[in-house]
Amino acid sequence: MKKLVIASLLIAGSLLAESGSSFENRKGVAPATDSLYLKECGSCHFAYQPGLLPSRSWVKTMEKLNDHFGTDASLEPEENKKILKYLVDNSAEKFTNYKRSKKINDSIGKNETPAAITKTGYFIKEHKGIKPKLIEQKEVKSLSNCMACHTKADKGSYSEREINIPNYGKWEDE
Ligand code: HEC
Ligand code: HEC
Repeated sequence: MKKLVIASLLIAGSLLAESGSSFENRKGVAPATDSLYLKECGSCHFAYQPGLLPSRSWVKTMEKLNDHFGTDASLEPEENKKILKYLVDNSAEKFTNYKRSKKINDSIGKNETPAAITKTGYFIKEHKGIKPKLIEQKEVKSLSNCMACHTKADKGSYSEREINIPNYGKWEDE
């Protein structure tokens, strides 16, 4: 009986702590912290935060790593499983207290499973005002290269103040 009371107190305590954090509205996306993920998924490109896509997108990506945007990014089954779990546990719909994750998730239709962040409605809307020549230039190459313009992208921070586009500079809303 005593044990039961303690257990329920512990559960109530952790529920309280959780609901507390979900009231706080955080601005960017949660930073990527998993060392295996950073190593395996940050070698060819920026390690995109899990909160930039919903879990069904990550499932799709991890299922066909052998055919990954024109490259083979296959992993050992054990590593694939660990990374998939990390991505799903931290995907956009789990982090609705992070403003950008919520906006990205809300912009994707229920029947859509985009593999790319750059193909989501929210992303397209936010980036449509950038002149193609600023994107195509060699210092950037494509919109997939978040760090080229978002100087704190690796911290999960995409605030307008931190944007610095090569050969253009700070972004002012036009
Ligand atoms: C062998 C190189 C390679 C590895 C390793 C790799 N990727 Fe990629 N990935 C690419 C390429 C190439 C693209 C296309 C965009 C680009 O040119 O950077 C891409 C694009 C992506 C995109 C879409 C970005 C966008 O445009 O919105 C996601 C998401 C992604 N990768 C996730 C992962 C994950 C998760 C892993 C680890 C399991 C991973 N990648 C490992 C090469 C790689
Ligand atoms: C060529 C430079 C460039 C690249 C590359 C780029 N962005 Fe952006 N991004 C911008 C600019 C400029 C804005 C601001 C648009 C506006 O508010 O008018 C923006 C806005 C955003 C916003 C909204 C910020 C806010 O405060 O409303 C997010 C989130 C974002 N970008 C994420 C990303 C991610 C993730 C990537 C990589 C997959 C990326 N961006 C790649 C230039 C870039």
